[in-house]
Amino acid sequence: MTPADRAPCPGAGTEDFHLRGGELWCEDVPVARLAAHYGTPLYVYSERALGTRLAMVRAAFGPAAHLCYAVKANSNLSLLQCVHRGGAGFDVVSGGELQRVQAAGLPTDGVVFAGVGKEPWEIEAAVRAGILFFNVESEHELPLLAAVGAAAGRRVRVALRLNPDVDAGTHAYISTGKKENKFGIALPRAGAVVEAIARERWLQLVGYHVHLGSQLRSVDPYAAALAKVIDFADGAAVRREGLTHYDLGGGFGIAYGQGAALDTAAVAQALLPVLSARGWAPVVEPGRYLVGDAGALITTVLGEKRQGGTDFLLVDAAMNDLLRPALYQAEHPIVPVVPRSGAGQLVDVVGPVCETGDFLGKRRELPPCRRGDLLAVLGAGAYGASMASNYNSRRRPAEVLVTGGSARVVRRRETYAELFAAEVDLHDTFVP
Ligand SMILES: Cc1ncc(COP(=O)(O)O)c(C=O)c1O
Repeated sequence: MTPADRAPCPGAGTEDFHLRGGELWCEDVPVARLAAHYGTPLYVYSERALGTRLAMVRAAFGPAAHLCYAVKANSNLSLLQCVHRGGAGFDVVSGGELQRVQAAGLPTDGVVFAGVGKEPWEIEAAVRAGILFFNVESEHELPLLAAVGAAAGRRVRVALRLNPDVDAGTHAYISTGKKENKFGIALPRAGAVVEAIARERWLQLVGYHVHLGSQLRSVDPYAAALAKVIDFADGAAVRREGLTHYDLGGGFGIAYGQGAALDTAAVAQALLPVLSARGWAPVVEPGRYLVGDAGALITTVLGEKRQGGTDFLLVDAAMNDLLRPALYQAEHPIVPVVPRSGAGQLVDVVGPVCETGDFLGKRRELPPCRRGDLLAVLGAGAYGASMASNYNSRRRPAEVLVTGGSARVVRRRETYAELFAAEVDLHDTFVP
């Protein structure tokens, strides 16, 4: 294949998914070959795409920044290892995610732990693991953290998650920094919480945390939130003494085929001078930005159907494999893996699950497709596999990681026996 045959894939957001001779490739592997070998539905990830995005964030925020990949975006152990090789730590929101970092054999000293409702065992496990700090966003956690610190004989590092009441301009379900959201501590209340932390000998306030939501495309909310945090910190000496970090959260948006991704360098340029004047090291928690464009969901056309004036393309991937379209009305670019020539058609791409909300894309312009053809749902590396379920007793897809000219399975497809393994041979009767 000559370089002249290589072309960008519209909507891909990364050159690591591109066209050669009109067909979709991931790095140096034809996607159709992966589908033939591993079957579909199939998640395909590009290691190089992930590494490129990590390098971009590192270049933007500089060597002193703590990059903490948001594990929830895609918690596959092999991807966590790639992230670690790229020089990042982790942002976890549960004891399970912390266990994933440990199961991947990775260090936990670069982990930050957020969440509105941490359980005591989760706090204990994270203190034992020696994480970088906790992002505390509910007051009831403070005595729990202090007790675990006292038992361990060491002060527990805490960043207070503030709710700055900033509109991130994103979908309501992924907006987290407005006062009506459950996240963070509202600024009018936060002063008292800082004082409570200062009074507790087993707690150490190391900074503030803000996470405004997901899929942000503009610098402005990040700058507005920092301005509010600075105002808050300047309200009393106790609110700024001894602080070392500012965790500006994640939420770095990607294009999904429309407009541009967030300009991370612009975010860094807006925030870093303010942070360095205070001596606060930046902490960033990108998830989607690192893995979103690095992944595609490959699916096979099962058939076509015309009904009520709509042309449906029935495919073997469904909302249980990729929930985002059903949950957030998210629009992922969908492209044929090996396009046929002929007149385009306007179709709804739908899965086999028994829900009207089971669609991957609506009113999409696609070339002619027949039973057996392959489609790629692009930008599916984040909140795809990690939100997948077994609804309709469907096995979650296998996941493969492409590195250059080869691929390896990083999660095999489940067996049906695994789907109901926790429901058989229980031998448990409880009579209260
Ligand atoms: C606290 C926190 N940090 C980071 C993220 C990652 O967001 P994104 O994947 O949009 O970067 C989330 C996502 O919900 C989050 O809740």
